[in-house]
Amino acid sequence: MLPKIRCIPLVLLLLVGLIPLGAIGQEGASPPRQGKSREWNDAEKRAAREKEEAQKRAARQQQDAQRGADALRALARRFDLGPASVIADIGAGRGRDTWVFADIVGKEGKVYAEEIEEGKTKSLQAAAEQRGLVQVQAVLGDLGDPRLPADSVDMAFMHQVYHHLSQPREMLQGIWRALKTGGYLVVVDRRLGTLVDWAPVAERTRRHFWTAETTVVREAREQGFLFVACAEDIWHEKGVFVLVFQRPGGLAAPDRDPDPPSTLSEASARQLLPAPGQPCSRVAFVALGEGRKLIAPILEATSAAAVDIVLEEWATQKDERPPLPAGREIPSTLTVSGDPKLGPDPIDAVYFLDTYHLLFHGPQLLARLQERLVPRGRIYVLDRHAPKAVTRREASHRRMIAPETVTEEMANAGFDLYREESLPAADRFLLVFGRAGT
Ligand SMILES: C[S@@+](CC[C@H](N)C(=O)[O-])C[C@H]1O[C@@H](n2cnc3c(N)ncnc32)[C@H](O)[C@@H]1O
Repeated sequence: MLPKIRCIPLVLLLLVGLIPLGAIGQEGASPPRQGKSREWNDAEKRAAREKEEAQKRAARQQQDAQRGADALRALARRFDLGPASVIADIGAGRGRDTWVFADIVGKEGKVYAEEIEEGKTKSLQAAAEQRGLVQVQAVLGDLGDPRLPADSVDMAFMHQVYHHLSQPREMLQGIWRALKTGGYLVVVDRRLGTLVDWAPVAERTRRHFWTAETTVVREAREQGFLFVACAEDIWHEKGVFVLVFQRPGGLAAPDRDPDPPSTLSEASARQLLPAPGQPCSRVAFVALGEGRKLIAPILEATSAAAVDIVLEEWATQKDERPPLPAGREIPSTLTVSGDPKLGPDPIDAVYFLDTYHLLFHGPQLLARLQERLVPRGRIYVLDRHAPKAVTRREASHRRMIAPETVTEEMANAGFDLYREESLPAADRFLLVFGRAGT
């Protein structure tokens, strides 16, 4: 009887639904069962979350790919490329951009998908065939030569490749030869400032290192390319530079700057000397190229001590220094974010000789010079005349600046225009500044 009586409350509880059927007869079964269902719920939620994230990721990737394709189409439109054009995708990787270029040039055009890894060229060729893109041809290049047919390409394109180049100058020469006269080179890479030391050659192809846009521009110029424009305005990615160069006419080989500033005679230095009676015992030079030629005659005429300020905007590596005039030993300092780390000694004159156009950290450098310049000190700015005001980066890459830009920037830094002269060289101007109010 007793078991029957003990069952009555149980039956009641079952009837009102307070005890789930499966729990009967399982001692201590309720808590673990609840735990299992929580686990099951958690797993289900996690799977749903992961699925949602994967969907979002896929949607983002698709959007990015679409934006990337739109940017390439805008680039092609800007430089007049379209059906029947010839494009070289240098360092094509898996061909993401190659397929877009193939669509832009159509079957009458040609896309060279160039790579240094043989496996990649094979996959690119196979993928092109699978997609029926007869206009795509994979090309196996080597570290210093893209191995493209000469005078055949309308645009060579490098996306996230330049910083890998272990022989950038040789590659630039190879690309220059492959381009038609007037053909474009577009370099897209990460923008990290003005001086990013090149990694040792052996490591560049294997690992990720970055390079400064100023280095790219300088190397391209020295290998015969003309800077055309910065084109970030049509680009989809943030934090990159998009530099466009051109193979100019009138150059037989890719071995020199196609747009050199005119030469400066030593006589030009006469216009850069302090007024008679003005003390001049220590001067600072920020001088490059032709401007550097004027260091020796200025020092001869003034007998001043000197410091050579090397701009990080110019250097391609931290230990790089432009040559000094023969027989001169001048201490040199490399700027860091515009700071030349000058010692405590006062400076009577600062000479920007063919360098002011290059300043990316102008306000910082001018502020440091303010601190050292004696009250009646002078800042000389000799530079190439730009016909109109351009952005700071374009001024740097074109190596010319509008005198109005210089005057405005100097005024912001606390220097008044004291004197303006025209130099014997037709492409230059010379402005002399003093502290405001002196
Ligand atoms: C970061 S991936 C970029 C791939 C592709 N351009 C993209 O944006 O998807 C760099 C590619 O450059 C290639 N590369 C490195 N050095 C090269 C060289 N000297 N010539 C051609 N390709 C090179 C590598 O094999 C790699 O596929």
